Amino acid sequence: MAHPDRFLLAGVMGWPVMHSRSPIFHNYWFKKYGLAGTYVPLAIRPENLEAALRGLHPLGFAGVNVTIPHKQEAMKIVHEVDALAKSIGALSCINVRSDGSLAGTNNDCYGFLQAVRQEHPGWRADAGPAVVIGAGGGSRAVCYGLAQEGAREIRLVNRTLSHAKDIAGQFGGPIKVLRWEERHDALEGAAMVVNTTSQGMVGNPALDIKLDKLPKSSLAADIVYIPLETPFLAAARKRGNRTINGLGMLLNQGRPAWKAWFGIEPEVTPELRAMVEKTI
Ligand code: ATR
Repeated sequence: MAHPDRFLLAGVMGWPVMHSRSPIFHNYWFKKYGLAGTYVPLAIRPENLEAALRGLHPLGFAGVNVTIPHKQEAMKIVHEVDALAKSIGALSCINVRSDGSLAGTNNDCYGFLQAVRQEHPGWRADAGPAVVIGAGGGSRAVCYGLAQEGAREIRLVNRTLSHAKDIAGQFGGPIKVLRWEERHDALEGAAMVVNTTSQGMVGNPALDIKLDKLPKSSLAADIVYIPLETPFLAAARKRGNRTINGLGMLLNQGRPAWKAWFGIEPEVTPELRAMVEKTI
């Protein structure tokens, strides 16, 4: 809980980390909620991750987010990993408890679902088949969220078939694995398609997918937020599909983090979004 005598500290550990937009919106929240504190980017080399995490308590940190490349490695270092993070196979957030122990969780799934609900209030996971492209950590969070919300069919497509099969084997239920060559056809009759690969991110080529079979009524989502509109989203928008970029997921995953660290659930407002968008 927030304490009036304390300067509150949180941050994000990554390598590299200076591209992260997290300090911008977390520091906005410190101002907005009138708390004395700061959120800092922590550039931590992989070989220093354990020492850095052990240093959080003595330094007075309430917690940190962890990003590439630490999301999996951090699981082995923290004292406790909750069931959600175990299922997703990665941490996105660490809470430093008063006894110094570290508790890991994953807020990416919440961030994704909350962003979709916020931007498309009528959305339902059981409206029709969802196509998820990619089988990394982001995909696990999205698949877990869609399944939890009642999706009846999730068509999972990934370049490396075995990675998709691993997710299906672990989550079971509505997940159907399709081959990479089937990605264009997989869009037929889909209510939603989500890109969770790194394709389309600044510096990477566009996601190679033909949208011809995607119904015009479908929602196209990307978890990439730099650029705000990936070539995949631009193509979807131009043919009349509703779209959702990755920024909402990033902003919304910060809410449960704040709840755990400072006892406040901050709001993702249009003003906050516009402020972060200006930096991208
Ligand atoms: P994250 O944890 O952020 O999701 P990741 O675990 O590196 O990142 O996953 C990246 C995803 O992008 C994977 O699904 C990867 O496919 P593979 O499992 O075959 O590696 C996908 N990806 C990366 N480069 C790709 C490319 N050139 N074409 C298609 N998919 C690609």
